[in-house]
Amino acid sequence: MEISVIGTGYVGLVTGVSLAQIGHTVTCVDNNEEKITKLKQFKSPIYEPGIEELIEENVEQNRLTFKLGQEVDYSQFDAIYLAVGTPQSEDGTADLTFINQVVIDIKNKCHQDMVIVTKSTVPVGTNASIEQKLNEDSDYKFTVVSNPEFLREGSAIEDVFHPERIILGSDDEAALDMVEEINEPFHAPVVRSNFESAEIIKYASNAFLATKISYINMIADLCEAVGADVQTVSRGMGLDSRIGNKFLKAGIGYGGSCFPKDTSALTKIAEQHDVDSSIIKSAIKVNQDEQVKLVSYLDDIYPALAGKKISLLGLAFKPETDDIRDAASIRIINELLDRKAKIHVYDPEATNNIRNIFGGKLTYSENISDCLQDSEAALVITEWKEIKGIQLQTFKDKMRRALILDGRGALLNATDDPEIEYQTIGRRGIN
Ligand code: UDX
Repeated sequence: MEISVIGTGYVGLVTGVSLAQIGHTVTCVDNNEEKITKLKQFKSPIYEPGIEELIEENVEQNRLTFKLGQEVDYSQFDAIYLAVGTPQSEDGTADLTFINQVVIDIKNKCHQDMVIVTKSTVPVGTNASIEQKLNEDSDYKFTVVSNPEFLREGSAIEDVFHPERIILGSDDEAALDMVEEINEPFHAPVVRSNFESAEIIKYASNAFLATKISYINMIADLCEAVGADVQTVSRGMGLDSRIGNKFLKAGIGYGGSCFPKDTSALTKIAEQHDVDSSIIKSAIKVNQDEQVKLVSYLDDIYPALAGKKISLLGLAFKPETDDIRDAASIRIINELLDRKAKIHVYDPEATNNIRNIFGGKLTYSENISDCLQDSEAALVITEWKEIKGIQLQTFKDKMRRALILDGRGALLNATDDPEIEYQTIGRRGIN
């Protein structure tokens, strides 16, 4: 089928590329000229393993093109996917400015009946409102299908080709049949629902996973207090298939573009409908505390941090991405700046994004050795393979004091080395 995907951010680009790869003819559209120019040269504006190879392959097979919004005639397509951002507004709700702009654009430039597929995460009621706006005073019939995405950054290419479910929300059977046919090559179970259920499935899934992480982090605090080990506790719990072993990894909490934004938006939706969402509110609170936990360890060890060289290993909110949105690193850096520490940072991909926020306030290291040189504490923020693979000797050789505060349980082997002081989340004291 001929498909247009509007928005070449994370969701739009991965969606567009995957639809092309399964055989559809896809036009990815964006208003950002710089992004479109880059994409035409097979350069991805986001770091995602494997995406540039897929862009090149599909462009060369004439299944994928990139265009500026003003160059597109929307009437040529069988379906239009909406994949523009819905960032968090100051009050915690989702900001629908981009969605509303696209709706106006489609109305002006689509002169036939059309199926609109919403990939963006939108609050309950939005798909109904998009459909209503599109059909208001229109000569054509616009049918909206809500089709939320569940991609994880860093493994989005793997996820997009092996989805565990496809959620399709609409009351229009013909439109549902069509979008199911588009997705048929993915061979995933399809759940059909109305708009509201599809919208809630997305928020409820992300909030559940975020809550699971905060739950194990709360248990981690308890483990530290009573002398248990959260890694073992997590393994013991996860073997129960009703609980499952995924998203039970204790650490310095969740960040990224989805969990913080979606948990906050869900509590707002609940508030608007007079429904208690205290479980999710607690999950948010636990996460805020966990993100700065390493700083509290540091405060106990160094009551005065001014002038001390502290090394941050990893900055991205998780490995295999350069994304730093709501990353623990940002909050930790701000706390350390308040304490006037000398902060040296290293990340294989995310350094430039952090530099854009903190500029000259930090020292940006090209490699791990430089970052650790003469340091008085190393904070492990992101469990990149390269960071998990650091030889313990490097800490002893380079640092003034071989002290590791590990926010991700990435260097547990350090517990066996008597020359290293090591503390991690969910385990009492320093080894
Ligand atoms: C998430 C959802 O997994 C995905 O389905 C949704 O569409 C978008 O949001 P993403 O944010 O890319 O994906 O990353 P994910 O792998 O889910 O990790 C989110 C955060 O939770 C990261 O900061 C990660 O470090 C943290 N996390 C994850 C934990 O602290 N412990 C865990 O056990 C799992």
